Amino acid sequence: MGVLLHFKVCKIRSIVVYDSFSGNTKKIAEAIASVYNCDIKKVDEAPLDLKNYDILILGTLNIRAHPSDKIINYINNLTVPKYFSLFVTFGMPIWGQISSIFCLRKMRKLFEAKGSKFIKSFICPGFHIKYKTYKGRPSCKDLEAAKRFATKIYLRSGKIL
Ligand SMILES: Cc1cc2nc3c(=O)[nH]c(=O)nc-3n(C[C@H](O)[C@H](O)[C@H](O)COP(=O)(O)O)c2cc1C
Repeated sequence: MGVLLHFKVCKIRSIVVYDSFSGNTKKIAEAIASVYNCDIKKVDEAPLDLKNYDILILGTLNIRAHPSDKIINYINNLTVPKYFSLFVTFGMPIWGQISSIFCLRKMRKLFEAKGSKFIKSFICPGFHIKYKTYKGRPSCKDLEAAKRFATKIYLRSGKIL
């Protein structure tokens, strides 16, 4: 990444908020936050007033095609920032990938109803503790993909902010 772009994105006020039951979504959240060293909070401890932030990057595990209840409550009670991005981890092969798109749509609608603008989303497999699918995921490659996702958000926000 160029020095000029890096300088520009450092001025963007961003925060990563996530919910995670068994740690997969947390790993992705940490990879994203590591790219520009921004704030990162678990949903239980996250601030509800984000009007002083430019971008919220919000992540959840997929629970039957829905975000977690904590994430829904969080969005419902949130004073939204200008822009948002979303990520989801899922554990069921094939259906998990499809249902994560529904999950993203649900969250996106809630944000857009509040006037926040969507930038980008990311989905990633994560080890399913019940069905033992996707062992070892998120992998190193997944974490690299999460970092690329973060970089793309910032590249785009460098143009719109
Ligand atoms: C209660 C529960 C319900 C789940 N339902 C689904 C589901 O419907 N589809 C799916 O793909 N994965 C499902 N999963 C798997 C998780 O979405 C997946 O393993 C995710 O990576 C877990 O993230 P976490 O480690 O951050 O909690 C479910 C997991 C739990 C605990």
